[in-house]
Formats: sequence, C-alpha cells, structure tokens
Amino acid sequence: MRTVHTLKELRTILRNYRQQGKRIALVPTMGNLHEGHISLVRRASETADVVVTSIFVNPMQFGATEDLDTYPRTLQEDQEALTAAGNTMVFAPSNSEIYPEGLARQTRVIVPEVSEGHCGASRPGHFEGVATVVAMLFNMVQPDVAVFGEKDFQQLAVIRKMTRDLMMPVEIVGAPTIRESDGLAKSSRNGYLSKSERATAPVVYKTLKDAAAKISQGRNDFKTIEDEATKALGEAGLRPDYFNIANSQTLQPAAADDKDITLLVAAFLGTTRLIDNLSVSRR
Ligand code: PAF
Repeated sequence: MRTVHTLKELRTILRNYRQQGKRIALVPTMGNLHEGHISLVRRASETADVVVTSIFVNPMQFGATEDLDTYPRTLQEDQEALTAAGNTMVFAPSNSEIYPEGLARQTRVIVPEVSEGHCGASRPGHFEGVATVVAMLFNMVQPDVAVFGEKDFQQLAVIRKMTRDLMMPVEIVGAPTIRESDGLAKSSRNGYLSKSERATAPVVYKTLKDAAAKISQGRNDFKTIEDEATKALGEAGLRPDYFNIANSQTLQPAAADDKDITLLVAAFLGTTRLIDNLSVSRR
C-alpha cells in the first residue's frame, strides 16, 4: 500500500487508475484509526476498485481552545491497519500542502441551516472547516464515492447538503457507527478517557437508547424527554453540552408527527467531549 504526501503524486497515480476505468472511493479521516474507520474502508472497497484514505488533522475545524495540538497522530500504526484492511492508498498531506497561503486567506465553504445547532452551536466554525476541507479533498481525489461514519451525524448531513448544493459528482455513503461491547461509540477521542471515565462513558449510549424507547412507545413530549436525558447524564457525572431530538433530514427540532427522528448528544466527561446519536423510525 502506498502513502503519498503531495497533491502532485496523488494526481499522477489517480490519473492512471482513472484511465484504466477504475472506480475510486475516498475515506476522509484525521488518522488515529480504529475499527470504526476500518469499517468505512471495508465499505468503500465493496463499492470501488481503488480506496484512498486521507489522513489529515484539519486545523480549520478546531476551535482555539480545542485539542488540535494534542490530537493523536499515529501515521505508522494507521498505515499498518489500512494495509490489513485492503486499502489502496493513503494521502497524508502536510498543512502547507493543503493551506499553502495559510488559513486566513483560504476560500471557505459555508453550508447553512444543517451546520447550525447541535455541534455547530457549541463549536462555531467547525462545520465550515469540515465542509471546506472535504470539498478540497473531493477536488484533489475526484472520487466516484466517499464514505463517512454516521457517528458524526450532523457532519454527514452537512456533507450531503454541500455535495447536493454544489453539484459535486460524488456519491455520499453513510456507514453505521461501530461500538464497543458496552455500547460506547468508537472514537479517536476515547483514548483521552481515564480508566474511571471509560467505565462511565457507556451511559451516553444508554441515555440515547432510553430516550429512543420513550419515543418508540409513542411519547411526543420531546422537550421533557430531552430534559430527562440531560438530567440522567448529569447524574452519571457527565457535563451535557446538548441532548436534542431532531428531524433526521433537516436536523431541526422534531415535530410530533415526524416519522424519522434522530437523537443527538454531546457531553463532556472530564475534559473529553463525547458525541453520539441514535435514529428512530416511526413509519
Ligand atoms: O470526521 C472526520 O474525521 C473529519 O471531520 C473529516 C471528515 C476527515 C474532515 O476533516
């Protein structure tokens, strides 16, 4: 498996594949790969001949007080995991390869509405950073298909809307969240948790399941269900950022007659911010 660091090398190799009529998939990541990412690569290889995994810790999507500097960078281990998963190529560019003129002078992509609320409200500029780098990755790799995890539900909605609105010829595939046996969603940030925090962390998924069960039982008092969930998280020792019950397509607050509902949560455990979500169909 090859790793390339520059756009020039990437384009030369991909041009060859394209001339051979190969279907190309992109799996954008920030590295520190776990089973969740590997499942995206497997999903990508089911639908394409060539799988490019990008590894780039994108400074534009981190807030000033967030974990950009400490975000784990584990390229060698990532390469080994990807080789075992049958990935074709890694694209691991430097900051200056992606933002040669610096962040302040970079053209940006703003995706209205779905970027607002939830993580967008707590992390101003985050989805602008995500949309911008993903648009650039799409232009660099020119994939036929790109695979993203449903764990970042709002991110997936932002990317789907950007792709639609900007007529990007890329098929977007969402892949299911991979969980630990106790329900905790796999995330690179789980590595920040202390032993006792790790023991508490599954309460995030449990709270989602409890709230989802209430909705499946026919309750429509979403505000009360949100408050109950927020209280449960607080009692377990987390600091809830939000617990929102939303329409799965628009991500706006769910209406009583909505059929597809997604519960989205973000909560701090110590200094680690965990996110998760769960969808409920009432069709
Ligand atoms: O989900 C992530 O790891 C990142 O937000 C992404 C999509 C790779 C963009 O930097």
